Amino acid sequence: MTLLLDQSAQQALLELKRVLIIDDEEPIRRLLGYMLQTHGYETVLASDAREARTRLGEQPFALMLCDVNMPGESGMELVRNIVGQHPHTAVIMVTGLDSSVLANAALDMGAFGYIVKPFESNEVMIDVANALRRRRLELENRLHRENLEDVVRTRTMALQQALEWLERSEKELRLSREETIQRLAIAAEYRDSATAQHIQRMSHYCELLARKYGLSSERCDLIRTASPMHDIGKIGTPDHVLLKPGKFTPEEFTVISQHAEIGYRILSGSDAEILKVAASIAWTHHERWDGNGYPRKLKGEAIPVEGRIAAIADAFDALTTQRVYKPAFSLDHAVDLMTKHRGEHFDPELLDVFFASLNDIKHIHDQYADQSPRGMIREA
Ligand SMILES: [Fe+2]
Repeated sequence: MTLLLDQSAQQALLELKRVLIIDDEEPIRRLLGYMLQTHGYETVLASDAREARTRLGEQPFALMLCDVNMPGESGMELVRNIVGQHPHTAVIMVTGLDSSVLANAALDMGAFGYIVKPFESNEVMIDVANALRRRRLELENRLHRENLEDVVRTRTMALQQALEWLERSEKELRLSREETIQRLAIAAEYRDSATAQHIQRMSHYCELLARKYGLSSERCDLIRTASPMHDIGKIGTPDHVLLKPGKFTPEEFTVISQHAEIGYRILSGSDAEILKVAASIAWTHHERWDGNGYPRKLKGEAIPVEGRIAAIADAFDALTTQRVYKPAFSLDHAVDLMTKHRGEHFDPELLDVFFASLNDIKHIHDQYADQSPRGMIREA
């Protein structure tokens, strides 16, 4: 039974000097009552177990002096039945029978002492004082433990609530950051009629490839979140070039090629990991494995892995969706076309890893399919 009382109630319980005397013989009850009262105790008398239960229900007692043999319910039965309900009440058994078996049985039940009739006043007072001292120590210990448990419980709950709040805030922050990035990327792509679905497919292809390639889950998350910004530099490309339906002249191609550099300039210089990755992807997603890409003609592993991943994802999405200059190719056709450029345009190992997951690729392709003919972008 947990006490969990406030401090004044705990103190009152510790200071309690009220004793319940239960004996069917009136002279014994009176004698014990007299002895205890003359030593400063408050006493309540009960002639049998039934009356004792009533008194115990009315107010708390520090101690019960209980006769063993009484008509009806015996003292032993009474103590056995109520000891759990009144853990703050000490018990001393009183009996006319000096038996070690009985004494041990009483102690086993939780009694603090055992007095044999006839008794001397000193003997009773020593036993009562000892029982009350032990009760006080046990009670103090128990209250201290329960107070401590209560403090721990309260603090644990507060900590859990704080952690849950922190988790929720982090999640909201992460989601809002991702959504902001996606919306910015969509805004940039809108200039040349790209769709939100292109952004989604591109970022999921990138994540899939990064994961299958064995990058850490943290890195995969960063690549997924950062890759939508790969073409953000197109906001610096003039409309007459960006929106031109026909083939680019060499001069126009030079202009549109600058979107990689412009994207890098927009995104670089931040301490945020996500913007560092985004800047790297924007700068390197048109580099080629054989060194014939742009803007820096980086070659092989000199191209950061996120750039090599984005190059594959971007090209695959361009081939498998409709553009102003071509229809959407089937996935198999796109695989054939890209495989021809394995080791030239694309990192051969990454390309193998990507095409080893065709089922996952198809799932992304279908899940984020273009919903209108607006899905036509010129690939640059
Ligand atoms: Fe691009």
